[in-house]
Amino acid sequence: MFKIIRYEVVDSTFKVARNLQNTEEYTTVIAKRQLKGRGRFGREWLSPIGGLWFTTILYPRTSICTYSLLSLLSSLSISKTLEKNTMLKPKIRWPNDVYVNDRKIAGILIESDVNGDIIERSLVGIGVNVNFSLDHLPIELRDKATTILEEFGKPIDEDTLLIEILLTLREYYEKYKKGLYNEIVIEIKKEGDFIGNHVILYTHSKKIKAFIRDLDIYGNLIIDVEGGTMTLTPKDVEKLELVKTSESESS
Ligand code: BTN
Repeated sequence: MFKIIRYEVVDSTFKVARNLQNTEEYTTVIAKRQLKGRGRFGREWLSPIGGLWFTTILYPRTSICTYSLLSLLSSLSISKTLEKNTMLKPKIRWPNDVYVNDRKIAGILIESDVNGDIIERSLVGIGVNVNFSLDHLPIELRDKATTILEEFGKPIDEDTLLIEILLTLREYYEKYKKGLYNEIVIEIKKEGDFIGNHVILYTHSKKIKAFIRDLDIYGNLIIDVEGGTMTLTPKDVEKLELVKTSESESS
């Protein structure tokens, strides 16, 4: 159904996927381990055995202004799949992370070839922490990251999870290609824990305290800051941290 190319170990599934020519949409490169896994903004992504580390090739041929939505629908697919296959209650953290109990369980990085205004090809890199314990991560990450094994208490089948994520991704991506943006944004809002929250946003140059008002139709973040309202795209924000207020803690 989906073309899946499997490796034991690679530097990064991006590196392999990028070199594939004339592949059909949804072709997926997956590896048991990555030696040089890449995260957003040049960060390292640790990829031990027991995780789901893969890159899926898409040909959106959509306008670059919908980029945020492409990223969000990938997080939505993971969140929905985890919800269906485990008892967990995942939350999307804009623009492309999935959290469980306030700790990151999955991340997404998309690398795209853009021609003028058009996204020709997107390599959707997805990392899900599945069947490994937190001992496999450095101490400084153990209170920030989590795995399905830690949260669910038992391992789950990685192949089944991969297929379920791809099926869900296809469902939302096909809606996206038809321009049904509003349907996707509504689901993202339900599945996220950031709208209506005070947050700290880390941009490349500064830290901004803001209140998240809403998402626009393309999935960009509408925030209130001192002095007005702003709209931010995923490339503007390196990290989003929720600020716990006494109000949000008691609700
Ligand atoms: C992030 O949250 O910073 C994004 C992490 C993306 C990790 C995945 S794992 C599979 C694919 N290959 C990589 O080198 N990175 C992505």
